[in-house]
Amino acid sequence: MKSAPSPQSISESDSVVTGSVDDGKRWSRRRFLATGVAGSFAACTASGAWALWGAPHNVELVNVPMPLRDLPDSLIGKTIVQISDLHVGPIVSHEYLRHCLELVSSLEPDIVAVTGDFVSYDGPARIDEAVSLLADMQRGKLATIAVTGNHDFGFSRDGFTNRQVADALTEKLDGIGIQLLRNSAIEIGGLRLLGVDDFWGPTHELDETLSSGDGDRPSVMLCHNPDFVDQPGWDDYRGWILAGHTHGGQVRLPFCKPPILPIRNRDYAAGEIDLSGSRTLYVNRGLGYLRKVRLNVRPEITVFELSRAALNDLAS
Ligand SMILES: [Fe+2]
Repeated sequence: MKSAPSPQSISESDSVVTGSVDDGKRWSRRRFLATGVAGSFAACTASGAWALWGAPHNVELVNVPMPLRDLPDSLIGKTIVQISDLHVGPIVSHEYLRHCLELVSSLEPDIVAVTGDFVSYDGPARIDEAVSLLADMQRGKLATIAVTGNHDFGFSRDGFTNRQVADALTEKLDGIGIQLLRNSAIEIGGLRLLGVDDFWGPTHELDETLSSGDGDRPSVMLCHNPDFVDQPGWDDYRGWILAGHTHGGQVRLPFCKPPILPIRNRDYAAGEIDLSGSRTLYVNRGLGYLRKVRLNVRPEITVFELSRAALNDLAS
């Protein structure tokens, strides 16, 4: 007579082998689901950790050709290095910003352009901190220019409206060789460089800015908020417009637009955008942040290389 097997003689694998086909499928399905859930959890945790601690400081150097109509020979091959939205304040690491500014210096730029939001203003000390950080950055060989962003006007119940804050920042940056273009233009070797005060602030004068300098010159305009390009008055402007303000949205799912953007025209989230009327907009994703999180939107230093546009080039 055959004796029954002792409990110890039946292994787990035996039980699968001797079970029905349906049992095996159920077991495999359970393992598959458990593995999938565990994998997804690990991936989400890793992505979340990266978005909070790694990505906000993972700065990218972005090279962009900048063709300009009638650019003088002497400026062909020169560079404009753009940075934006430093947000010097209690949230953005000074050590990180110092690293970014050292990168700018290492590029030995011909022109440095800062498109606003130097500070997340909560008192005069922030301006001094920004000036202290920027003092060590190498100046452009030809010029170092900037415009105000909304945060450079402070913030109150009335919005970003304190012109005394912007004036104090302008004076102190001027003292270290950074020239704020406030509804004005300068000319460098036949290139017109323009800057308009921030769109949300109380002092912007777009018409006055666009009529500054020689409009026949190849032109590059700095304006913090890209929504400015949809305002009337640009009819005769031909050239580039460098903006910031959006931070690229800071967080973006693959193949999707960022869900949060502080602009009316959501086409202007980041990067190069051809506009009507021979204008090209470039929106820099910024260095800093208001909340320390970035996902699929790296902070950016943009390096434009100037060239002479072909006659049929719309960006001329
Ligand atoms: Fe900003």
